[in-house]
Amino acid sequence: MSTTETETQQVTSNPTLKLRGNASVNAQGQEEYRYSHLLPVFSSTTYPPLTPFEHSDPAARALNHSNPRAFLDNATNVIEITPNLGTEVHGVNLRDLDSDGRDQLALEVARRGLMVFRDQQDFIDAGPDFYLQWGRHFGRLHIHPTSGHPQNYPELHLVYRDANSTFNFEIEDSITSTSWHSDVSYERQPPGLTTFFLLSQPSTGGDTLFTSQVSTLKKLSPQFVAFLKTLKAVHSGVEQANFSRSGKRGGIVRREPVEHVHPLVRKHPVTGEEALYVNRQFTRRILGLKREESENLLKFLYDHIDKGGDLQARVKWTPNTVVLWDNRVTAHSAIVDYKDSKERRHGARITPQAERPIPALDGLSLDD
Ligand SMILES: [Fe+2]
Repeated sequence: MSTTETETQQVTSNPTLKLRGNASVNAQGQEEYRYSHLLPVFSSTTYPPLTPFEHSDPAARALNHSNPRAFLDNATNVIEITPNLGTEVHGVNLRDLDSDGRDQLALEVARRGLMVFRDQQDFIDAGPDFYLQWGRHFGRLHIHPTSGHPQNYPELHLVYRDANSTFNFEIEDSITSTSWHSDVSYERQPPGLTTFFLLSQPSTGGDTLFTSQVSTLKKLSPQFVAFLKTLKAVHSGVEQANFSRSGKRGGIVRREPVEHVHPLVRKHPVTGEEALYVNRQFTRRILGLKREESENLLKFLYDHIDKGGDLQARVKWTPNTVVLWDNRVTAHSAIVDYKDSKERRHGARITPQAERPIPALDGLSLDD
C-alpha cells in the first residue's frame, strides 16, 4: 500500500524543542509523533512454517517461591476488577522486574487471566529491543503472518488506526465490532502470556473487552462439559490470510496460513484450570460431528461467550497502561467506537507462544 511508505518515514534529525503529549515540536514548529519509529511497515519478507518447540512455562518456576506474589509487595494499590477476572495494579514498575519477578507475574496473570498495570512510561519508552527481551522471558516470540510491525522488528504485532488509514480488520459490514477471540489460535502452539500497550490512544473509546474462559466453562452443566471435553476442533488462519491477500489490511501474507486441531476444553499447564477454547474468529468445525451438529454447537458456545457480561472485564486505556493476559484461559475483543473522532490509536503486542493446548480430558488424541 502506498500509504505505508508515507507513514513509516522516520522523523527528521531536527532537534526536538518541546514535548507535548505523545508529540514533539521540531525547530520548524512541526509536530513529530513521538513513536514514529514504531509505526507499521508491511515488508514483503516471507517466513517458513513455524516448527514445534518445547515450551517451558515461567509461571511454573514461581510455584516454588515462598511468596509468588512478592512482586506486588511495593504496589500502592491492587484492585480486583471483577471477582473472577482481572487485577489492576498501581505503583509497580514492570521495567524493574527481574527474572524472578517476571516468573511471578506470569503465574499471577495465569491465575487472574488479566492484569492491568498503570503508569508504565518507563516500560513503554524502553523501546523495541527491550520489548523483545521482555517477551522472550515468557516464550518463543511469534511473528504474525499478516500484521504490520515496526521496521526491523517483525516480532512486534501492531494495531494501528488514524484519520487516514487502518490496518485492522474492517467492520463496515457488521452491526458490531465485538469479535471474541484468543490470538492466532490457529497455530499449533498458540500464545500464552501476552503483553499489549498503547503508544497513542483516542481521548475516549477504544477500550478492550476480556472474558474468562474458565468462567464460561463453569457456567455449563457437568454433563455438558463432560461431552465438550471429548471434542476437538479445527482452528484456521486461512480466512485471515485471504482477507489480507484481497488487499485489505496491509495486503501481505508473510507465512502461509495453517490449520490445527485443538481440544474444545484445554487445561492450563501450571494452574491446572480448565478453559473453553473456541472462538468465532478462528474455530471452524468440530471433528467427528455432523455439519449441523458442529455449527449449532459452536453457535451455542459463541452466543454463551457473547452474552456473558457477568464474566467479563473492560479495560480503559489511560495513558501509559500495560496490559497482560493469558490467551489460554481468556478471550478478548477490540471495541472500535472512536472512528468518528479521527484520532490515532497505535498499539503494540508482544506475543510469546506457549505449549500445544493440553486436552482437559486425559488421553484425548489431537492427531486423528
Ligand atoms: Fe487479539
